[in-house]
Amino acid sequence: EAAGLILGIESSCDETAAAVVRAGSTALSNVVASQMSLHANYGGVVPELASREHLRNIVPVVREALAQAKVALADLDAVAVTEGPGLAGALLVGITYAKALSFGLGKPLVAVNHLEGHIHAVLLEARQRAGVPMELPLLALVVSGGHTHLYLAEQAANDTWTYRNVGRTVDDAAGEAYDKVAKLLGLGYPGGPWIDALAPHGNPRAVPFAFGQIKTRATKAAQAEHSKHSSSQKPGKPAPAFDFSFSGIKTAARRYVETHHMKPGIEYRHAELAANPQIKPQSPEAVQLCNPQTLDLIASFQHAVVGNLLRQTFAAAEAFGARGIIVSGGVAANRELRRRFQAEADRRSLPVAFPSLALSTDNAAMIAAAAWPKFLAGNFAPEDLGATPQLRL
Ligand code: KG4
Ligand code: ZN
Repeated sequence: EAAGLILGIESSCDETAAAVVRAGSTALSNVVASQMSLHANYGGVVPELASREHLRNIVPVVREALAQAKVALADLDAVAVTEGPGLAGALLVGITYAKALSFGLGKPLVAVNHLEGHIHAVLLEARQRAGVPMELPLLALVVSGGHTHLYLAEQAANDTWTYRNVGRTVDDAAGEAYDKVAKLLGLGYPGGPWIDALAPHGNPRAVPFAFGQIKTRATKAAQAEHSKHSSSQKPGKPAPAFDFSFSGIKTAARRYVETHHMKPGIEYRHAELAANPQIKPQSPEAVQLCNPQTLDLIASFQHAVVGNLLRQTFAAAEAFGARGIIVSGGVAANRELRRRFQAEADRRSLPVAFPSLALSTDNAAMIAAAAWPKFLAGNFAPEDLGATPQLRL
């Protein structure tokens, strides 16, 4: 009888990760080799460098994951790997390795969508606690450096879920906006943790950032679902899509910096931060290196972004009759986001769940967890599995 030991492998972006998860609910190991410091020199992920680093890291990371889990290769029941979305060259390293391993061991290969993986980061921990109220349909916000997506998760025939995309960014992802604004202000990379740590030191009402109406895109799914839930809706009128746009606020921040002549000071601080890599987002020196104006800008930016994520998510939850909310992805690590989502959820008596911090950003435990229902359903990947950089959920 299989113990349900799945080795998960993730290499879609700038983390090479491997994990062993039992029965989709117990992470026996969760190893992440981050390339963050490498890409920090460029202020963003450089695809060529990422692939090379994955090649360098994949074998030691998998070995470490097996060693920490005290699991031998022969004990595995399946190998799971991220097939997309992500960087083509980066994905291929994980996929090629996983295919070879599964073929060599004679164990099934399970292909996982990275976005579904982020959702399963929450489910892994929920299954572990057994009893967390997780009634379907659920609304899931996946918010990271590459994605800002809203999904309505519903039960399918077998124990797997189906997902309807009911919102997405029409331009930048929220995490991308964090990273770009942080770069503009001379903070470190990735920018999210810096803005998270510095925002409480500024006035969130100092800079009035606004989110305008986005040209909506009426998806068929949104349309059908919407008319089910709103009897007042006139036929033919497009259903609202709960889309996001973050390029406007990025431009507004740049304009603010220019019109307030903040540039010279920022360049100076950037040089100082770069020369002192020991300065971390939470260190007191980081706050001292920012003038009050910079701190106000940071606080106002975060307040606006979190407010926008919150409004769209809860509006979608209401429109589709969701019985709970899941927030996952790198930006879900944000403290203001967690605080405000929790407060709003409490106000509406709606359960909300976040992954632990280690499972919020990219990891392989979430990939192994997402593979579990597919493994049970016998939903295996073909031997010629390839990378799908634009894979949708
Ligand atoms: O999920 P993730 O590790 O990788 C992607 O799939 O993109 O997310 C990385 C993103 C980066 O943009 C980073 O700035 C952001 O998540 N991030 C945060 C925080 N921690 C990471 N954003 C806001 N607050 C944070 N605490
Ligand atoms: Zn991710």
